[in-house]
Amino acid sequence: MRKIYIFDTTLRDGEQSPGVNLNTQEKVEIALQLEKLGVDRIEAGFPAASPGDLAAVNAVAKAVKNATVIGLARCREQDIDAVKEALEGAKDPGIHLFLATSPIHRQHKLRMDKDQVLETADKAIRYAKQYFDKIEFSPEDAGRTELDYLCQVTEMAINAGATVVNIPDTVGYMTPQEFGNIFKVLKETVPGIERIQLSAHCHDDLGMATANALAAILNGADQVEGTINGIGERAGNTSLEEVALTLATRAEYFQATTTLNLKEIARTSRLVSKLTGMVVPGNKAIVGANAFAHESGIHQDGVLKEKTTYEIISPETIGLRDSKLVLGKHSGRHAFREKLIDLGYEQLTEDQVNAAFGKFKDLADRKKNVSDEDIRALLEEKLVETPE
Ligand code: KIV
Ligand code: ZN
Repeated sequence: MRKIYIFDTTLRDGEQSPGVNLNTQEKVEIALQLEKLGVDRIEAGFPAASPGDLAAVNAVAKAVKNATVIGLARCREQDIDAVKEALEGAKDPGIHLFLATSPIHRQHKLRMDKDQVLETADKAIRYAKQYFDKIEFSPEDAGRTELDYLCQVTEMAINAGATVVNIPDTVGYMTPQEFGNIFKVLKETVPGIERIQLSAHCHDDLGMATANALAAILNGADQVEGTINGIGERAGNTSLEEVALTLATRAEYFQATTTLNLKEIARTSRLVSKLTGMVVPGNKAIVGANAFAHESGIHQDGVLKEKTTYEIISPETIGLRDSKLVLGKHSGRHAFREKLIDLGYEQLTEDQVNAAFGKFKDLADRKKNVSDEDIRALLEEKLVETPE
């Protein structure tokens, strides 16, 4: 089984979610939880962005002992110097350099031609090499970059000393087939490609960030970048828990795995949600409140008989106690009876259960979710009315 390295950018790209601003203490708390989760690399921030971010990256660098701590930099000496300063005291430091390569970015943003971009990136990687052994280079907007030019850029980065070349689908424009093909072509044609790791960095503008990252893995990517809960710029980044659980659930298919401690996923998700203020949607894969909840009677009956009928992942895998049977108008007698037992009403007769079930159905027609309190109230009412 091939190991896929997990590069977590919750503290950098994740913090670029509109409205999110993490202070130093919060960044350290999340970084320590990411360390427990077992991510390989933590991108702690963009030190040149502000003195506050530099200080936060420095605090993370000093606190984390079991992951590479990385700072982001543009291809400018002052950005690289800021990362160097921020990572003082880090046990295992690394730098992430980026420069846009797509025609749209070259023309409108950078106002550089292809050669100028190559030269600027080459110089920056060589400058960073004086201070860092671990250098990742990202051709920003790689997804919309001419493929032959992207091969040239990758070759330049390898020769200049990069140890990882990251392929960002910066604007979430790619389909899985197209994105996977980039990795296939880079692997097959770039001289020296075996000396570095290839990485995938996807955004979710068209809802394909996880699918694109998985396509990259199928085509030889060694590393996936993403965030917890999929937070990030605009529609967000690849959700790391989705990638990790897909590989864990479909290991045979992907022939690849992560070394994450999956039992820490639920806790990490809750912490990131709490400190960023970004609420996880109920239907979010893996970590949404409904991801292990069953409402319909047919599903509940199936799960009560054998969980794998409707659960491809057990909730315990990600550190949750159990799946939930949510009582609503679609629920059946089997789940209702289990709930009564849970609430301590196991001695009720068949007639009492039937009468209570009828009342429950009436209530469920009026109320979307029927809570434990509702059931208790309904049972107390029922028991008073039923002569012993
Ligand atoms: O999406 C992107 O292109 C980025 C780069 C900095 C890698 O976040
Ligand atoms: Zn990004």
